Amino acid sequence: MSAAATGRLTLAQALDALPKVELHCHVEGTMRPATVVELARRNGLPLPTEDLAELYSYGSLDEFLSVFWLVQSTLASRDDWARLGYESVLDAAAHGRVYGELFFTPARHLAAGQRLADVVAGLAEGIAAAEAETGSVAMLIADMDRAYGPAAGLQMVTELAELRRAGAPGVDRVIGVGMDSTELGVDSRTFVDAYRAAATAGFRLTGHQGENSPPEAVAAVVDVLGAERVDHGLSLVTDPALVRRFAAERIPLTVCPNSNIRIANAFPALGEHPFPAMRAAGLLATLNTDDPAMTDLDLGYEYASVAETFGYSFAEMVTIALDGVEASWLDDAGKRALRDRIRIEADLLAARLPATA
Ligand code: ADE
Ligand code: ZN
Repeated sequence: MSAAATGRLTLAQALDALPKVELHCHVEGTMRPATVVELARRNGLPLPTEDLAELYSYGSLDEFLSVFWLVQSTLASRDDWARLGYESVLDAAAHGRVYGELFFTPARHLAAGQRLADVVAGLAEGIAAAEAETGSVAMLIADMDRAYGPAAGLQMVTELAELRRAGAPGVDRVIGVGMDSTELGVDSRTFVDAYRAAATAGFRLTGHQGENSPPEAVAAVVDVLGAERVDHGLSLVTDPALVRRFAAERIPLTVCPNSNIRIANAFPALGEHPFPAMRAAGLLATLNTDDPAMTDLDLGYEYASVAETFGYSFAEMVTIALDGVEASWLDDAGKRALRDRIRIEADLLAARLPATA
């Protein structure tokens, strides 16, 4: 929707149109169902069913991951990655995302013989094409897959650093390194060498934790691995002293409330999610979708459902959007420009809302 548009809006419509940042979104988890089916057919990967709605219902994080890994396995070539990057940015732009930092997790592809250079170049090419069409910008975070262990993580970081030194095509899109996948039976501190290598090569650092692991594990991602932010960080809320510390230090958490219901099964309903308690405690808790195409979500819905469930006003949701800018890895000038844009467009949208919103 253009800022010049007129007419009344519902809160959900205004939040869909509001320019937003997203810092926790797995590019593979944005793959359109039709693309999953087409790539699976073309690349000879049998799917248990082509009705993906049947597959996309999960009893736990690890159950979700087995489906996520299947979806990932459909990506067999540089062109597949390019198509994914292109469609992913188009779909997010349609719901107001103007800037994203997107995870990709290539462990299984590298283990199967794909080259990291091709994955990066393909993704970057697709993203650049969608960016040119929509103006929605996306940068990349190379995630290590905990299920493949620390040695594979270090190997990926080493190759990424080499690509950066060589100025390989598309590698300037990759601004950070993180880790995701299962938290069960994995001590994330064992990834310390990979994190050190990533920091030495100049990458920003983040990591999934606390989706399915205790608050001490969340603290270790910051204190041992040197991460600047934590993806999910949900279990932090069970440790009040740690909450105070994270709030005081403004350590960002990339929270995904609807994913925590649909993937982690951490709460029976959105109304029981601690997102409002996290915000009230002063945590820099941002809003994100995680794996939107595999959970029937989009960023506009994420904002609207949180606003409606917890009674946030439009102005409060704009503050959350601005916190996304603060938590991002944009430079100061980039953050300033994006904040200005959000404020200007938010004022135009607010004028079209009922006085109660
Ligand atoms: N990979 C994709 N989505 C994930 C999530 N929510 N947690 C851990 N790993 C993931
Ligand atoms: Zn995630």
